[in-house]
Amino acid sequence: MTAITPGSVALITGGTGGLGRALAALLRRQGVTVVLADLDSLRARQTAADLGAAFLPLDVTDRAANAAVVAQVEADHGRLDVAFLNAGIAGSGQQALDVDELLHVVDVDLFGVVYGAEAALPALRRAGGGSIVVTASLAGLAPHATEPGYSIAKAGAIAFVRSLAPRLVDDGITVSAVCPGFADTAIIDPLREAFAAVDFPVLSADEVAQALLGAWTARQPGAAYVVQPGVGAVPFRFPGVPSAKTADGRTATLPGRLRPPARS
Ligand SMILES: NC(=O)c1ccc[n+]([C@@H]2O[C@H](COP(=O)([O-])OP(=O)(O)OC[C@H]3O[C@@H](n4cnc5c(N)ncnc54)[C@H](O)[C@@H]3O)[C@@H](O)[C@H]2O)c1
Repeated sequence: MTAITPGSVALITGGTGGLGRALAALLRRQGVTVVLADLDSLRARQTAADLGAAFLPLDVTDRAANAAVVAQVEADHGRLDVAFLNAGIAGSGQQALDVDELLHVVDVDLFGVVYGAEAALPALRRAGGGSIVVTASLAGLAPHATEPGYSIAKAGAIAFVRSLAPRLVDDGITVSAVCPGFADTAIIDPLREAFAAVDFPVLSADEVAQALLGAWTARQPGAAYVVQPGVGAVPFRFPGVPSAKTADGRTATLPGRLRPPARS
């Protein structure tokens, strides 16, 4: 666990939503300069102002706009230390497969993360190292039956984090993911009655914000933290897959360039 350097600069995408607001408030209390990037609206701008955070309009599905936002953060605040790639939407939860809806959810929840990372990495290198923390979801580890788009987007975001992380260690850049269960924000509004009917517990936004902050300061490359009510944030242990065997029965070794770099 590393201490937060006073004057650190954090970018939070989807930053004026429920989890973004809770995280922004937490970071502000730690003396972090916070920039909230979100779809533009008067409400979003006011939310940022109320939190003592800067606001930049951003649609995360616009690849060039992600780079422009990071450039603006550097221009306004001199550096970027951590990018919380948190913007996300859910599907409608209908039974029928709606491929148009699925593609839109994947565009926001997966490609929004890919574009955000692409934009943040050069700035983090210029800052001498830093972190990317992706708000994935438990749905990326245990798919939701009525949310195929959300499930594959979040699973993809976790795989992206785990694929990217090892090669950034030498640059001093840590990439990790947080996988919350259901949390008390607007995204679960359509499910509230169903949860209440069976007394299903949901996380507070503050609990998830603590996990996002913890992922930043823990600096564990490729880690994915499950956050569940009554459990807190725990690192998810991914099962290994069976290794290939050579014709004479030895465990095969991957060619060097396919192997993640050894951690120091
Ligand atoms: N609340 C939960 O139960 C829960 C559980 C697991 C994961 N998550 C994830 O947490 C993240 C934050 O969600 P939340 O719970 O705060 O919900 P929320 O709806 O309150 O906030 C989501 C934010 O993302 C923004 N957003 C949506 N599309 C965008 C786009 N194209 N470009 C930029 N911003 C966009 C919204 O404007 C909103 O401010 C999401 O990635 C969500 O999938 C939430």
